[in-house]
Amino acid sequence: MKDFVTQAKEFTNINSTYTLNDGNRIPCVGFGTWKIRENENGEQIILDAINSGFRHFDSAALYKSETSIGKAIKKSGVPRDQIFITTKVWKDDLCPEKARLSLENSLRDLQTDFVDLLLIHWPKASKKDNKWQNKLASTWSEFIKMRSEGIVKSIGVANFLPHHFAALQSDILPCINQIEFHPGYLQEEAYEYSVKHNILIEAWRPLGQGGLINNDKLKDIAAHHNKTAAQILLRYSLQRVVLPLPKTTHIDRMLENQKLFDFTLSEEEMAELNNLPLCAWSGEHPDTAIPWDDSERSRPQ
Ligand SMILES: NC(=O)c1ccc[n+]([C@@H]2O[C@H](COP(=O)([O-])OP(=O)(O)OC[C@H]3O[C@@H](n4cnc5c(N)ncnc54)[C@H](OP(=O)(O)O)[C@@H]3O)[C@@H](O)[C@H]2O)c1
Repeated sequence: MKDFVTQAKEFTNINSTYTLNDGNRIPCVGFGTWKIRENENGEQIILDAINSGFRHFDSAALYKSETSIGKAIKKSGVPRDQIFITTKVWKDDLCPEKARLSLENSLRDLQTDFVDLLLIHWPKASKKDNKWQNKLASTWSEFIKMRSEGIVKSIGVANFLPHHFAALQSDILPCINQIEFHPGYLQEEAYEYSVKHNILIEAWRPLGQGGLINNDKLKDIAAHHNKTAAQILLRYSLQRVVLPLPKTTHIDRMLENQKLFDFTLSEEEMAELNNLPLCAWSGEHPDTAIPWDDSERSRPQ
């Protein structure tokens, strides 16, 4: 199998695929669905995304976007095997029974009998959770079981730092680690660990949730290439061999976020973006700033 760097050099569009460490393939750009909900025109937004060209959708039990995705795929007429669906098991469901139930509910809402990728959404339920290692090990072993049953094709993790991986207690490595990743918040330790172990990194919040669009450095580089700041951010992710998951509700932006393959950022531009000071960070951290941490009463925005 070619390494990810070599694979990425051959990409020509958002549906060019990486071959993962388990041999399965994944389109190199995905469509984010956080805050896309059924009662807020979610089905139409996903249908627009499919019609605009996206074939890879990132969802989660937490997002409440799965019903919209399921309905939109049916309405689009695109065969299921041409769409890549990710979902996730939330941090409060990290035990075999709850993880299985979570997937069963996701399959029902997505109107499908398998997902392409299932992720552990967060390694720890709360700062005070002292059973997190045991929970990860038992959940991961259930993930492996569900994969052998064919209801999941690939399995991975999200928001894992290097020290979380050992807790899985398995020779079967995740094929994906989905982390917050964008100029201004690069998580180099998680990045290096994943690269070293042939685990593909996915970028959540690749546009800094819109917060990087007006950054002066981004605007300068965008003007130089006659591109938008969003396109520079997504191209940056691709050149770092990280799979971006941009979310938008607007059709023009869906199209814009796909035009990433007719230009290249120079080494100098990559270095400038690599060295951007801390910015557009969500404020979340896998161990110390956990969303919906009951022991902290924190809430994600
Ligand atoms: N694993 C995790 O813990 C985790 C956490 C957070 C997110 N995620 C995943 O990652 C996905 C992406 O992250 P995100 O949704 O937080 O942030 P994002 O994709 O970085 O940014 C989305 C924001 O950028 C705007 N936008 C999109 N395209 C644009 C463009 N071309 N020009 C200007 N603005 C643009 C969108 O506005 P409009 O919608 O108004 O266009 C929206 O406000 C999520 O949807 C979710 O699937 C995973």
